[in-house]
Amino acid sequence: MPSISRILVLFGVAVVSLADSWGPAFSLGPTSPNSAVIESFTTFIPGKPPTNPQDALFLWPGTSNATSGLIQSGADQLRDQKAYCGANATSWCVSASYFGVGGQKSGPLVPVDGNTPIDIHYKLASDQRTWDQTVTVNGKVISTLQSFDGPLIQGGWGTGTECQSNCRGTISTQTYKNTKIILSRADPDFKNTLGVGGGVQHTGLTTPDGGKTWTVTQITIPPYTAP
Ligand SMILES: *[C@@H]1O[C@H](CO)[C@@H](O)[C@H](O)[C@H]1NC(C)=O
Ligand SMILES: *[C@@H]1O[C@H](CO)[C@@H](O)[C@H](O)[C@H]1NC(C)=O
Repeated sequence: MPSISRILVLFGVAVVSLADSWGPAFSLGPTSPNSAVIESFTTFIPGKPPTNPQDALFLWPGTSNATSGLIQSGADQLRDQKAYCGANATSWCVSASYFGVGGQKSGPLVPVDGNTPIDIHYKLASDQRTWDQTVTVNGKVISTLQSFDGPLIQGGWGTGTECQSNCRGTISTQTYKNTKIILSRADPDFKNTLGVGGGVQHTGLTTPDGGKTWTVTQITIPPYTAP
């Protein structure tokens, strides 16, 4: 299922096997070497899942650097959603998740309807090592996970539309609202690292504090058809 390609896609160097493909993305990074990604917030609305589920589709906002694991809470669709998380055909399986040395680790997988806003928060703890992922729906925390990469020096943040094996793509627009990415130190050039795939729209990057905090009010990712 998951592969190393999840880590590399943030920097546009996707290494994928033949049957896997990636939809267009919004991606930022790397930060300058004296800065790091230390926190992010976004509200993710995945849209309706494909009506003919296949193995496997993964939609997520991710953060990593070139040598860390990938923090990637998100919405999944496998062929058998019922077996995967008890979801029906109109729902996603949503969890906090991490891919790194040792493979994929996920918090509880919970069924979530397609047009439900999912609040996703990633935060480096005060020990400067532990990352806490918190996934909240309708004010209730549904999934959490910890990983241990430390401040993501030369880190990036981006969206993933990851289509593996028999996946045919997505049928809905994905929306990310009120995205906020916090760096350890101001990096005014961070905005210049933005890469935007075909059909991806956004309202622009702004910073209220000279480049430590970056915000984007809305990002939309168009429906994607796998080749
Ligand atoms: C599918 O599951 C979702 C989430 O649990 C639920 O809200 C919805 O009512 C279900 N739909 C059907 C047709 O059972
Ligand atoms: C990624 O972040 C870790 C933790 O701070 C750091 O040790 C590593 O050097 C960083 N990788 C790169 C490529 O900067």
